[in-house]
Amino acid sequence: MTEQNLPVKFPNDPTSLKALDNFRTLMLNYRSAVQVVETKIHYLDQEYQIQHGHTLVDSLQSRIKSPESILEKAQRKHLDFNFESLPEQMHDIAGIRIIVRFEDDILAMERRLEKQPDIKVLKRKDYVAKPKPNGYRSLHLILAVPVYLSAGVQAVTVEVQIRTIAMNFWASLEHELSYKKNVRHQDELRRELIAKAELVHQLDQDMNGIKNQIRAEENQ
Ligand code: GTP
Ligand code: MG
Repeated sequence: MTEQNLPVKFPNDPTSLKALDNFRTLMLNYRSAVQVVETKIHYLDQEYQIQHGHTLVDSLQSRIKSPESILEKAQRKHLDFNFESLPEQMHDIAGIRIIVRFEDDILAMERRLEKQPDIKVLKRKDYVAKPKPNGYRSLHLILAVPVYLSAGVQAVTVEVQIRTIAMNFWASLEHELSYKKNVRHQDELRRELIAKAELVHQLDQDMNGIKNQIRAEENQ
């Protein structure tokens, strides 16, 4: 990010440049926090594979919110926007999505993450047990993880979404629809997506059941 393409024009005075440095440091904290959590997930997954002969994680995605999205969200939610209070007010600047194959794997992954002595679960939203009215399913966790800087340790928040491949497939299309303004038959498509969310849920449950049968026989 350069000063020119920042959404807000910073005048060329030392206090603004200091603010810009603070913003850069803040973003560095979030990038470090994502790396810390991603590394943990990879180790936990490899350990799981040694113990069980198969992995938990199908794939991982991560992102840091862009300055534009941070500003847009701050305005939309009427947050008192400044770099000091931003970390307390916005918990999803750093985000990691963990895609697993089976519903059981969502809680298995959560248990392993929350057992990590340096990870604190600040918030949990279980849209798997209690899906959103539009059919959205996922487990959301807000984690606090320590990041080590020259000035000392800092707790940084990371939003973690854990969902199955099927839930992710559904959410990616629903997300696409929610961002399109000029799609005809919006309401009809929304209703169709609600129905498909039920199919996805049924598929997830069936696949989970078959997986349990296969593994039960394997262990006899
Ligand atoms: P935000 O302020 O938008 O972050 O929402 P929130 O603080 O109420 O958090 P919530 O846990 O509901 O949603 C956080 C994130 O989950 C979103 O930014 C999306 O990535 C994802 N998400 C939540 N609801 C939906 C949904 O209905 N559809 C899709 N596709 N994704 C969703
Ligand atoms: Mg969000």
